[in-house]
Amino acid sequence: MTEVIDLGRYGDAFRTDPHPVYAELRALGPVHRVRPPGAEPEHETWLVVGYEEARAALADPRLAKDPAKLGMTFLDEELIGKYLLSVDPPDHTRLRSLVSRAFTARRVERLRPRVQQITDDLLDAMLPQGRADLVESFAFPLPLTVICELLGVPELDRAEFRKTSTEVVAPSSSGSEYDAVVRLADYLTGLIEDKRRSGPSDDLLSDLIRTTAEDGDRLSAGELRGMAYLLLLAGHETTVNLIANGVHALLTHPGQLAALRADMGLLDGAVEEMLRYEGPVEAATFRFAAEPLEIAGVPIAQGETVLVGLTAADRDPARYPDPGRFDIRRDPRGHVAFGHGIHFCMGAPLARLEARTAFRTLLERAPGLALDGPPGPWLPGLLIRGMRGLPVRW
Ligand code: HEM
Repeated sequence: MTEVIDLGRYGDAFRTDPHPVYAELRALGPVHRVRPPGAEPEHETWLVVGYEEARAALADPRLAKDPAKLGMTFLDEELIGKYLLSVDPPDHTRLRSLVSRAFTARRVERLRPRVQQITDDLLDAMLPQGRADLVESFAFPLPLTVICELLGVPELDRAEFRKTSTEVVAPSSSGSEYDAVVRLADYLTGLIEDKRRSGPSDDLLSDLIRTTAEDGDRLSAGELRGMAYLLLLAGHETTVNLIANGVHALLTHPGQLAALRADMGLLDGAVEEMLRYEGPVEAATFRFAAEPLEIAGVPIAQGETVLVGLTAADRDPARYPDPGRFDIRRDPRGHVAFGHGIHFCMGAPLARLEARTAFRTLLERAPGLALDGPPGPWLPGLLIRGMRGLPVRW
């Protein structure tokens, strides 16, 4: 019988720093049967922790995304509609082609001046205070403002929205996720209706409403809401943690911070190393075995779920020597922080632009930046690796 590893038995230590546990698992083998912390036995799942196996799993068409194939539905799909991470080809190919042109490197490059302006405005407000919670004042509002402007989402009640969206990706209790998804679904339905009523404007959501693909295909109402949902959530719940985890890594590795300050030419590589060392997506979203298969000789039955541990894979010593060392000069290429295969992150160029702008500007304008207390608490669940707060001073 397969041994089931109860990740809950590691307690809070796993949430604060899961890497020792992943290292232990990796040493035993690249794939394990696990029970996520706080999960019921019926939510046991396979977890891939080896780098080669993770890349192969992410690109394996037998590991499907559409729960309907197995007669299942997921909570958010039921309430929101289909979206890129809940469909397989050909639906996926069609949906992705309808939006991918908004995220090409060229389109994203045009956002640069606006991203810089938002960054400057946030720092203008934060820096006179002398100390702040970096998540609250900077890492969270930057990507949220960018994605809201891009999509054409009006000034939201930011604090309320933050609570809701964080509950979706890292629920603090089992019922809270459901309520949060319902609130978001209602909000998006209203927003789309408003946009339809008020006529065309030049934001991405209006674009999507108008969108007609070459074959005359349009997004259905559910697909449109699903797309808005995914872009809004994926557009900021991840980048906030790239910025916060990255600042935390720099401030706890003074030698690396000094090297970067001395040569900002190292910045792009440093951001890639941040993604490898402490990527914001701890495990990719669920996949299902559409047919029986094996991963590294371990049989996975049809219908079983598989989580691909991205942060675990990116610290596989077989791929990255001395993987627990944060080294902005190493070659971190090939990391899987943005996933791999057909679901590779569509927002990667935007996330990189935001992160590079954020780090360059923050380091220039806050020369004495330092930790002002312990970070945390770290977010629960296996999906997102990030912290709720990061106290800093300068
Ligand atoms: C540092 C920031 C980010 C990280 C680490 C990240 C990571 C990821 C990962 C790992 C996936 C694949 C998930 C899977 O295969 O289960 C993904 C997919 C996706 N991401 Fe990101 N993401 C980031 C920022 C963004 C931004 C800014 C946007 C949009 C504006 C975005 C939009 C998407 C979309 C639409 C998908 C689904 C693609 C598909 O299924 O074809 N992401 N992201």
